[in-house]
Amino acid sequence: MKSMKYALAGLLGLASCVALAASASATTIGFSQVGHESDWRTAFSKNMQDEAKAEGIDLKFSDANQKEEDQLKAVRSFISQKVDAIIIAPVVVTGWDQVLKEAKAANIPVFLVDRDVETADKSLYVTRVSADFNLEGRLAGAWLAQALKGKGDIVELQGTVGSAAAQYRMAGFNSIEALFPLIKTVKTQSGDFTTQGGKEVMESFIKATDGLKGIKAVWAHNDNMLLGAIQAMKEAGLKPGKDILTVSVDGVPDIFRAMLAGDANASVELRSDIGPDIYGVVKEYLAGKRDFPKWVVIPSDLHTIQDAAEVLKKKGG
Ligand code: AHR
Repeated sequence: MKSMKYALAGLLGLASCVALAASASATTIGFSQVGHESDWRTAFSKNMQDEAKAEGIDLKFSDANQKEEDQLKAVRSFISQKVDAIIIAPVVVTGWDQVLKEAKAANIPVFLVDRDVETADKSLYVTRVSADFNLEGRLAGAWLAQALKGKGDIVELQGTVGSAAAQYRMAGFNSIEALFPLIKTVKTQSGDFTTQGGKEVMESFIKATDGLKGIKAVWAHNDNMLLGAIQAMKEAGLKPGKDILTVSVDGVPDIFRAMLAGDANASVELRSDIGPDIYGVVKEYLAGKRDFPKWVVIPSDLHTIQDAAEVLKKKGG
C-alpha cells in the first residue's frame, strides 16, 4: 500500500514537472499591431490571435491605434518582459532605429509584418513578411488604365501619410499612370485608411469639382476608404461603379458586396491570413535558422465583378 502511495506521488510530481517545462518552453511573442482602422486590419489581428492560440504561442498583443509613439512604448515593454521575439507592423516607415537597436542589445529578434520601415541598418530586423504594395498599385493602375481605355481624370484617396502601404502603392500606381499621357490624377488626399476618412475626403472632392464634373474614376489605397467614398458619391446623387469607376486594395467582404450591388469595380486582394507565414519564420529563427531573405513576399491578386461572388463565398459570404 505504502509503495503504491509513493509511486502515485512520484507520478504526480512527474506530471507537474512536465506541465511546468511545457509552460516554461512556450514561445512568447510580442506583436505591435498598427491599430484597427480597417476591416482588413481587424481580420489580420484575428488571424494572428487565432493562429497563436492554435500553435501554443503566448502572444502579447498590442493595438497602437495608428500611433507610432504607442508602438514604441509597446516594443519597449516587450523588451522589458524579455519575450522570445517581437513582431512589428509599423504605422509609419520612419523613427524606428533607436528602439530596434534596443531590441538588438537585448538579444531579441525583431520581425516586420505588413508595412515596412526605413532604416540604414537592415540587420536590425530579421526579415519582413508582406505583400508587394508597389505591385498592388501597379495592378490597380493597369486595371484602371484599360477600363478607362487610356483616357480620363481620376481622384485618389491616399492611406496614412508616411506609411509604407500608402507610399509604395502610390508609387506603383503612378508608374503605370505615367505610361498614359491622357490619364491624370487631379485630386489626391489622405483618408487615413478609414471609412470615415474616405467619406470626408470624397465629400470635399465632390464640393471642389462641382459634383466630380469630368472625373472618370476613383483610386483608393484601401477598400474601407472607398466604401466611405461610395457612400458620399451616392449621397451626392452620383453613380459609383458606373459613371465613376472604382479600384482599391484589400479585398474585404464588403467590397465584393459593393461590386455585386454595382457600386464598385475592382480590388486588389491583400491576404489577411498570414499568421502561419510569420509565425513559421519566427519559429524557424528560434530553432536556429539564419539565412532568411530580407523580404518574404506574399502574393497579390486582382478581383472584379467577374469573380466577386466566388471570392465572397470563399470568405464566408
Ligand atoms: O498596411 C496595409 C493597409 O493597412 C491595408 O491595406 C489597410 O486596409 C490597412 O489599414
